[in-house]
Amino acid sequence: MADTLINYPPRIQLAHTPTPLQPLRRLQQQIGGPLIWLKRDDMTGSTLSGNKVRKLEFIAAKAIASGCDTLITCGGIQSNHCRATALVAAQLGLKCHLILRGLPKSTQASDGNQLLDELSGCSISYHSPAVYASTLGALFTQVSNEYAKAGHRAFAIPTGGSDGDGLWGYIAACDEMNSDFLAHGISPAAIITASGSGGTQAGLIVGAHLLGMQADIYGINVCDDEQYFIDKIKDDIADWQLKYPLQGSLALTASMIRMIDGYVGEGYAKAGQSVIDTITLLSRTEGVVLDPVYSGKAFDGLLQEITSGRFATDNDIVFIHTGGVFGLFPYKTMFTQRS
Ligand SMILES: Cc1ncc(COP(=O)(O)O)c(C=O)c1O
Repeated sequence: MADTLINYPPRIQLAHTPTPLQPLRRLQQQIGGPLIWLKRDDMTGSTLSGNKVRKLEFIAAKAIASGCDTLITCGGIQSNHCRATALVAAQLGLKCHLILRGLPKSTQASDGNQLLDELSGCSISYHSPAVYASTLGALFTQVSNEYAKAGHRAFAIPTGGSDGDGLWGYIAACDEMNSDFLAHGISPAAIITASGSGGTQAGLIVGAHLLGMQADIYGINVCDDEQYFIDKIKDDIADWQLKYPLQGSLALTASMIRMIDGYVGEGYAKAGQSVIDTITLLSRTEGVVLDPVYSGKAFDGLLQEITSGRFATDNDIVFIHTGGVFGLFPYKTMFTQRS
């Protein structure tokens, strides 16, 4: 991969890259529409896998360069980002503390990402959604102070690893995809990702811009709404420009932030029947498994957009499989009725 045009900050290799770019020909035969290529970022690793690993390559490098020995981050009880951060910390010999939204049920064994968090040996504090929403900043400060008192130095990572540092992960992924497109002889019209905290989409927007890629970048939001993501992505890109001013100017126009809104359903982490059906369809047609919170919800939105004609049939389009398979297991009862 030629990371030549862009002046990357320090990076620790954690992701197994390049990940495959896989055409979904059997799906196309079954449903018609354009050929969807899956960028298999679910294969950046085994338990340490998914989109977050790409961001953490730059975030962990910065934490260590800043003299920190502890990572603190936050998210939902089934957060893929928290699981990835906890495993990165274990791999690099750092301490890790997760501030999780949600109180575990004492009668239920840990499942999915939460189980992997526990296996990583990180320390975890659980908070009710109300306490988490109203005091997150204070919780970060409190945990950070506790580590400082014990002689440690903590690096705070925001939700989803989405800020000017994490954004590098998907700038680098654009470099990688440029090589993929060359190797496959394609020039995709669109690159589409699930957007949860916005950093993956922000990185793709900046990377595509810096590399002069033809593809339009789309985010299918799995929570909140279009305006929330426009503001959040603008903020993340502004943070990147502030932290890395030598990267050349990026004239960000509102039209570069393309959201496909309307597929949140009943809310974040709530999957409707259509999402469950889409996950089942792709598993059976291509042997590829999506998750109900991010990749499955966004891919279900993409299939509905294809049906309504948003993407021309003769186009190649790329969907980033951002991983998240461990988040599937807590939804097991939604799948068990199927034959
Ligand atoms: C599996 C998965 N896909 C997609 C996303 C969305 O990425 P981002 O938070 O960068 O928008 C996340 C995290 O939020 C995730 O865990």
